[in-house]
Amino acid sequence: MTFTTLPRLSATALALVLSAGAVHADDIAEYMDFFEPLPYLPPIPADNTMTPEKIELGTMLFFEPRISGSGVISCATCHNPALGWADRIPRAVGHGGQVGERNTPTVLNSGFLESQFWDGREPDLEGQALGPIEADIEMNMTLAEAIERLKEFDIYHEHFSAAFPDDPDPINQQNVALSIAAFERTLNTPNSPLDRFLRGDVQAMTETQVEGMKLFVDAGCVACHNGPALTDSNFHRFELPGSTDEGRFLVTGDEADMFAFRTPTLRNVAVTYPYFNNGSVADLHSAVQLMGQQMLGQDFTDDELDKLVAFMHALTGEMPRVEIPALP
Ligand code: HEC
Ligand code: HEC
Repeated sequence: MTFTTLPRLSATALALVLSAGAVHADDIAEYMDFFEPLPYLPPIPADNTMTPEKIELGTMLFFEPRISGSGVISCATCHNPALGWADRIPRAVGHGGQVGERNTPTVLNSGFLESQFWDGREPDLEGQALGPIEADIEMNMTLAEAIERLKEFDIYHEHFSAAFPDDPDPINQQNVALSIAAFERTLNTPNSPLDRFLRGDVQAMTETQVEGMKLFVDAGCVACHNGPALTDSNFHRFELPGSTDEGRFLVTGDEADMFAFRTPTLRNVAVTYPYFNNGSVADLHSAVQLMGQQMLGQDFTDDELDKLVAFMHALTGEMPRVEIPALP
């Protein structure tokens, strides 16, 4: 697989393009320096190269419900491709209809995150992948059972051997994690209006979205929502009315981390409602308003909220085209 990333225009080149009259020229180039276009691929770890065979196997496993206790829940049940690779309900519903504590984040662009989960308890996608299979409120199956189940199908013997040709006994936990992670690293959404704008297509964002981008910088949102995925991958205290979730504190036991959650990506945020760690906020206007109040001590006017929300809509990129696998 080869991808080319278009070069980014320099600030000077941009100022020239802009002063040609397409959008208000003034100081937009300066604002644009706060953002980075989303690359086509996230960083790839040296010990998990992305081969077509591994990605194909990872796709099958992502959609495979028989590695769940009930036989009906797969990763795609909650990370549903038709629903922004999330589930659009406040809190995830897993094994036996149990409702979890937290909202399902999208897996889109998850390869760009420096830690996984709302509390960052796993460092990477390889570490994350096996947790949901075992979690009693998610898929509720021991990994040993999951491996046994996969071994029942000839086609999995073929696919694991193809993906891990040097491994004499390739159907194992580690290879399940490696292949799911390799698949997830293909789920990226480049070429959003913001990305196209940053690369010099000044018509790609509406004027309101450009105003929203400026406000996003001026108000200070960009302090935490920065980098290609618009997250600093850091943990910040955020208290939702009625929530008792202690967040990062549950991982570190450090009082300073009480009620702290990892800054989520804002890529595709317009299609991954509802919002926040417990999904208690249904719409973007309210989510942005709460951010302003709690994170910045600022009450935005309706006009300002409209601009910020318009900018959030400029973060929806091209959805990955994934062929739903035909499982044995
Ligand atoms: C029952 C619903 C459910 C199922 C099934 C499920 N997930 Fe999740 N997923 C969640 C929830 C809820 C979270 C957030 C949990 C937390 O932060 O504590 C999550 C978090 C994640 C994240 C972290 C994303 C981020 O922004 O931090 C990834 C990646 C992920 N899941 C991949 C998977 C994979 C791979 C599978 C299948 C092996 C899977 N999930 C199965 C609900 C589910
Ligand atoms: C101090 C860091 C910080 C600042 C400043 C900040 N955010 Fe956030 N943002 C976060 C964190 C942390 C969360 C996750 C909170 C949670 O659910 O526990 C979040 C969540 C969000 C969400 C919901 C995303 C989702 O998928 O649930 C939106 C939308 C958002 N921020 C937009 C903004 C906007 C717009 C601004 C500026 C007005 C802003 N943020 C300022 C850290 C910050």
